[in-house]
Amino acid sequence: MMNATQPVNAVRCRGVEKHFGEGDARIHALRGVNFEARQGQLTFLVGPSGCGKTTLISVIAGLLDSTGGDVELFGQNTAKLSPQDQTLFRRRNLGFVFQQYNLLPALSASENAAVPLLAAGVKRVEAVDRAKSLLARLGLENRLDAMPSKLSGGQQQRVALARALVHEPRLIVCDEPTAALDHATGEAVMELLAGSAVHPDRAVVVVTHDNRVFHFADSVAHMDDGRITHIEQRN
Ligand SMILES: Nc1ncnc2c1ncn2[C@@H]1O[C@H](COP(=O)(O)OP(=O)(O)OP(=O)(O)O)[C@@H](O)[C@H]1O
Ligand SMILES: [Mg+2]
Repeated sequence: MMNATQPVNAVRCRGVEKHFGEGDARIHALRGVNFEARQGQLTFLVGPSGCGKTTLISVIAGLLDSTGGDVELFGQNTAKLSPQDQTLFRRRNLGFVFQQYNLLPALSASENAAVPLLAAGVKRVEAVDRAKSLLARLGLENRLDAMPSKLSGGQQQRVALARALVHEPRLIVCDEPTAALDHATGEAVMELLAGSAVHPDRAVVVVTHDNRVFHFADSVAHMDDGRITHIEQRN
């Protein structure tokens, strides 16, 4: 259970800034973001194209360095860890689904989904078995050995999702996980994500434009022009 006196957020951003480029070409993508995602919750991040959603979750996941402000994950300010410990912390605690799926082209669907387990030292046979059962839950039982180039966009998206979930990380961050999916598959994906977030010490943050899945959110953070404008807490 969450500590009643001092609840620790899964994610806490304070004054997060991010610039891209220099001089006239400089883009101020994040302009002092304050954002929280609670443990045990599915938090949606919504807002117009170009407002900074992917940039923000990339900073949260440590894939991009911010140019200012603080990010804490489960109470840990990751910038205070050594680069090595940051990598370990991320590998252990984070699952990330990119807007582009970023599957490894030379690996099959089940090998791609097994990558985080292999990186954690799980034996190959066991890692691939666990990846396969998760892929089957996502409706891909007939495509386990297919190469990414032979999969549809929605199938690749589900392989990327399995890769993010397979090692049961405490924080799962997803960029548009249902964009390429039909309604029924999108619901199944959100149910799986909601099922991960209901653990009291875990959290899921989802960037989405898909209003068909809004009813799954415990909390919705609205973003515009590099800032969080308001947060709707539903649960
Ligand atoms: N690597 C980069 N170099 C320069 N500018 C970038 C880079 N990545 C993003 N930007 C700019 O930063 C701003 C925020 O981009 P971001 O990708 O975070 O938007 P988004 O909210 O995810 O949009 P979308 O809904 O279209 O995915 C945009 O103006 C974008 O052009
Ligand atoms: Mg984006």
